[in-house]
Amino acid sequence: MMWPVLLALVSIILNLCICNGACPKKCVCDHGAAFQAVQCFRVQAIPSGIARDTKKLNLAYNHIKEVKGRDLSGLPDLEDVVLSSAGVEQVENNAFRAQSRLRYLDLQKNKLHLLPRGLPTSLETLKVSYNQIHTLQESALENLKKLRLLDLQNNYITTLRANVLSGLVKLEWLHLDGNRIETVQGSLRLSQLNLLSFASNRIPSFPSTFFTPLKSLTTLCLAGNLLSRVPNDLPGSLTLLSLDKNQIRSLRNREMAQLRNLTSLSASHNRLVTVDSALRLPKLIFLEVPRNFLRVLPSRLSPRLERLDCKQNALQEVSFQHLSGMRELRHLFLENNTIKIFEANALRNSVHLANLALEQNFLSSIPDGLPESLIRLDLKRNQISVIQESQLSSMRRLQVLNLRRNRLTTLPQHLPKLLPKLSTLILDGNPWNCTCQLQRLKRALVARGVEMSNEELCSEKPVGAPLSVGGEWRSHLMEDRCEEEEDGEDMRREEQDVEITDDEEYYDYDE
Ligand SMILES: *[C@@H]1O[C@H](CO)[C@@H](O)[C@H](O)[C@H]1NC(C)=O
Ligand SMILES: *[C@@H]1O[C@H](CO)[C@@H](O)[C@H](O)[C@H]1NC(C)=O
Ligand SMILES: *[C@@H]1O[C@H](CO)[C@@H](O)[C@H](O)[C@H]1NC(C)=O
Repeated sequence: MMWPVLLALVSIILNLCICNGACPKKCVCDHGAAFQAVQCFRVQAIPSGIARDTKKLNLAYNHIKEVKGRDLSGLPDLEDVVLSSAGVEQVENNAFRAQSRLRYLDLQKNKLHLLPRGLPTSLETLKVSYNQIHTLQESALENLKKLRLLDLQNNYITTLRANVLSGLVKLEWLHLDGNRIETVQGSLRLSQLNLLSFASNRIPSFPSTFFTPLKSLTTLCLAGNLLSRVPNDLPGSLTLLSLDKNQIRSLRNREMAQLRNLTSLSASHNRLVTVDSALRLPKLIFLEVPRNFLRVLPSRLSPRLERLDCKQNALQEVSFQHLSGMRELRHLFLENNTIKIFEANALRNSVHLANLALEQNFLSSIPDGLPESLIRLDLKRNQISVIQESQLSSMRRLQVLNLRRNRLTTLPQHLPKLLPKLSTLILDGNPWNCTCQLQRLKRALVARGVEMSNEELCSEKPVGAPLSVGGEWRSHLMEDRCEEEEDGEDMRREEQDVEITDDEEYYDYDE
């Protein structure tokens, strides 16, 4: 028979085709594109028999205690090696000596105590986060002249000697978050560095010229440390600066005047008592200083400011003087302060303001002359007992109004007309006096499709006096009586479809 011979031939041919890219057991090999990619599972060492021209090797989620040069010597074309979560405790010195084209090495989530030594100078990305590295040896880093990203997050580093990193002349991104750094020494001479992140360490201060050489730095995160002041040598190239969760007491021109490109500054949860007036940050768009001890609203800030967050401070007053320059303001968060006084027309220059959060303050009325651009106004948990029609008359675009937990007994009769775009009205927790007028108003709002929090206004158990005894039964009687009185007039004519525009990302309906 010819068949057995033919079958044998076919099998030989098949083998020949694959032989150049033979795939070891427990591995998946992809010969696609212009290169070989190999991924192996459940191995305890780098498998032998991987095709010599392999460029990508993925050994994540394995149990490879030690990475040895011997196992890699037959793979000179490797460019990209992933050894994350692979149980690696040690990488032999010069383990990658044969890989002169290695660009990407991922060793995250292993058990390394030290940086691997003798890595190829071709390396551009080195990820060693989530290991147990406690010291950075200069010898491991000095030759990495092409390294662009070094990720050292979540290790055990306690001291950072900046000079150790000086050889990384091309470094652009350096992540040191989540270590135990207490001491920082020297100056960081990394002229290409773009992003530097030190979040969640224990740094009380930096040497006076630590940041000085960082001429290309645009993003700096120092959140979650023990800083009591803003370092005074921050580079003028910065656009984003995070100082959250430190112990800083003031933001001063003296330390920050050079930050002429800064667009976002965040210093929440510090001990700020002062922000220099007219902080010279001409490009600032976002300023976040919630959870501090500010008694006065930061004033005369950048005219480009779009978002100012001062919630949970000790502000008592809001005046035109503070806000007059903020013509681009979109979002103003002043909740949980002790604001009693809100000057009439204080926001008259902020003609783009869409969100105003004033909940948890001591306001006894809705501020007069709020901008027409407002879409959301939160006044929950204040002490408002009366609303004047004039206070609503400017807010033609208002969609969401929160009046929960105030002292209101009634609402202006023409509220639906005054707020033509209203879609959500939150009213619970007020001592409503359920008069016929108020019930008519409620029906008009419901008919117009305004969403009300559980229809709290004059539902079965009103707080108001006329129905305080007898509850539901009387409430129904009352409704009947009101219906008789009505001639079904004006309110219903105001019915119209309300279209909800804009997103609601800044709004919370909760308590
Ligand atoms: C600020 O930004 C401008 C425009 O992006 C740039 O040309 C300038 O060099 C930056 N300033 C500093 C000090 O880096
Ligand atoms: C309001 O601020 C106080 C202190 O400033 C804080 O203890 C409280 O938790 C804050 N409340 C809310 C709801 O954020
Ligand atoms: C409720 O409103 C009615 C009618 O305006 C008034 O006579 C009554 O005193 C009010 N009750 C309370 C508790 O305000």
